Amino acid sequence: MVGKRTLTIVKPDAFNSGKGGQIVAHLEKAGFKIIASRVMRLTEAQAQAFYEVHRERPFFTALVRFMTSGKCMPIVLERADAVATLRKTIGATDPAEAEAGTVRKLYAESKERNAIHASDSDENAERESRFFFPESELV
Ligand code: CMP
Repeated sequence: MVGKRTLTIVKPDAFNSGKGGQIVAHLEKAGFKIIASRVMRLTEAQAQAFYEVHRERPFFTALVRFMTSGKCMPIVLERADAVATLRKTIGATDPAEAEAGTVRKLYAESKERNAIHASDSDENAERESRFFFPESELV
């Protein structure tokens, strides 16, 4: 899996406003294949666990509130150089700083309500994929 797969989440802002399909189409056009996907609403405990690395950051409480505010769509994606390519495809965390044509430039509202998540390393891609999907769905 390392090097070929990554995890994305279409976040509640984008999913709730009906942009999920367009975002998935954008990712497929960028060469990603969908390996696993689901629609779900994160519990507070799940959001806290997923973003554990940010627990001490000042935006943690707001981030958990936002990520539990509606349904989201975690997706495991596959293509060569998956982690780096997806991060380039979605653009900078803050849409104001994202390059033209990136997912966040096209669909995000703000640094917090930024439409989409992407794993930042192969190690986290694996951890985050297993957070949402059983091994049997990742073959
Ligand atoms: P994501 O890629 O999901 O990883 C952590 C998230 O925290 C990030 O996207 C943003 O949604 C959020 N985030 C990062 N920095 C800030 C910030 N300064 N203020 C608010 N939210 C932030």
